[in-house]
Amino acid sequence: MKTIVSASILSADLCDLRSELIRTEKSGAEYVHFDVMDGVFVNNISYGIPVLKCVRKATDMFLDVHLMITEPHRYIKEFAESGADMITFHTEAGSDVSDTIKLIRSFGKKAGIAIKPGTPVSEVYKFAGDVDMILVMTVEPGFGGQGFIPETEEKIRALRSFCDSKGIELDIQVDGGINAETSRRVREDGANVLVAGSYLFKAPDMAAAVKAMRE
Ligand code: DX5
Ligand code: ZN
Repeated sequence: MKTIVSASILSADLCDLRSELIRTEKSGAEYVHFDVMDGVFVNNISYGIPVLKCVRKATDMFLDVHLMITEPHRYIKEFAESGADMITFHTEAGSDVSDTIKLIRSFGKKAGIAIKPGTPVSEVYKFAGDVDMILVMTVEPGFGGQGFIPETEEKIRALRSFCDSKGIELDIQVDGGINAETSRRVREDGANVLVAGSYLFKAPDMAAAVKAMRE
């Protein structure tokens, strides 16, 4: 499976987002990862719809929107119409999972579901055939720059082997504490969409850092 690098702009210089997006495009990353936090589902507030619209105008890159918000079904339409290419929401966030997947698809967008480190991966098996991607969080959602939780590797391996056994081709995304070293581990576990924020935006050479994540 092709490795896709998704750059989380949570760690970008947000006062200079346009240059940061240009830097991201030139780095060779495929996706821009856009983290939405509502201060309820997670203990932090990031940015939302108006900023997504600006990002959409500033870049043609694939916009991978990660919703860390309560009852995400309430805002799918707005995020879809504001430029998201894929919308990923948490199964723990209080919306009906199947209905929310259908809602995302009704706008012609790719659909993903996410689980926190404490949620058993077996809870998402029943949706694996209905989504484009499953995000296995490798830190507690809410903040950039945290350390990778090694116990999440077992969940990635279990999900990949479940999908293989059922003949399901699925993108498995990881998010949190991803750098060159943890990238190699999670790729071996079966993840193929790698989100990185602080590792990429704090790197002296972002293109070299993206390359290191694939090696
Ligand atoms: C955390 C966010 C991540 C965050 C990752 O809740 O979902 O996307 O930006 O940051 P790093 O790569 O610094 O761990
Ligand atoms: Zn994220």
